Amino acid sequence: MKKHLGNYAESIINNRLLNGSIVLLAFLAVIVTDIYIDNFPLFQIAYLMLSLMLGLAFWKETWIRSLLVAIMVYSKISLEQTEVFQVHDILSIRIITLFISYFLTASSISFMILSYIKQKKNTLQLTFTLAKALDSRDHYTADHSDHVAYYSKKIAEEMNLSKMACERIFIGGILHDIGKIGVPEHILGKPSRLTEEEFSIIKEHPITGYDMLSHISHLKRAGILDMILHHHERFDGRGYPSGIAEKRIPVAARIMAVADTFDAMTSKRVYRGELNIDFAIEEIQKNAGTQFDPEVVKAFMSIWNREGEKLLPKYSPVAKTSSNAFS
Ligand SMILES: [Fe+2]
Repeated sequence: MKKHLGNYAESIINNRLLNGSIVLLAFLAVIVTDIYIDNFPLFQIAYLMLSLMLGLAFWKETWIRSLLVAIMVYSKISLEQTEVFQVHDILSIRIITLFISYFLTASSISFMILSYIKQKKNTLQLTFTLAKALDSRDHYTADHSDHVAYYSKKIAEEMNLSKMACERIFIGGILHDIGKIGVPEHILGKPSRLTEEEFSIIKEHPITGYDMLSHISHLKRAGILDMILHHHERFDGRGYPSGIAEKRIPVAARIMAVADTFDAMTSKRVYRGELNIDFAIEEIQKNAGTQFDPEVVKAFMSIWNREGEKLLPKYSPVAKTSSNAFS
């Protein structure tokens, strides 16, 4: 319930038109209540408070809230009076008290909503900083997280996933390899073939990443922790760490597997130069149904057939995301 209220609050605060409409509805509700429900004062107060919560509280700017509260109080009082306002009415204790109590209610709700949103944004920035710290350890993979985020989002859009799901997968892409922070430098940057033991250390990174961020509830709720945990699963169940197969792997992780492989194959690595793009495309197609989800490969191929090399991040600015992804 708390989660849904937070999502609802954030989507409204970011949408001026919606915000304005809700204020208008709240305002009409107060007037209608005043006219028809005079005999039920308690109900009237509850209705008024609810209207304030839904409407006025969503405005960030104090002066707009003050103005709206003033209009509301003026209308409420003028509806109760048959005569035209006098100067002493405007300064009456009742009007001032009403204004202060409505304004404080709206402001405190607004403060709570804004703190909630700010906390989410700070968390997001902190995790992005961690991801950058990881990339900075190896200049060969400096932009890998950004690229995986970009490709994953493109595929998700092609598969007609919701806008929210696309934003979430972008963040998942940024954070997918965060667990590599726990892998020693000499293994991460080793130019020759890894030994079995070294590879088993590398294979721990999805679980390390999951554990590192598991206390951040926004990431858990948004399914981003599951993307981190399962981005090395294979469609045929021969991946790691869980060995789950097909639809048991979250769709975002199935998408990320294609994006991750494609970027790894088309970027320079410490142990080799860039591979031929046609070879990478061929490999992706060849592994549809074994390593990769065929539906994801199909979506990826339709983007590739339409955009060709323009798809590569060096030709397209890497898309940005918004904090709405945590909604
Ligand atoms: Fe990885």
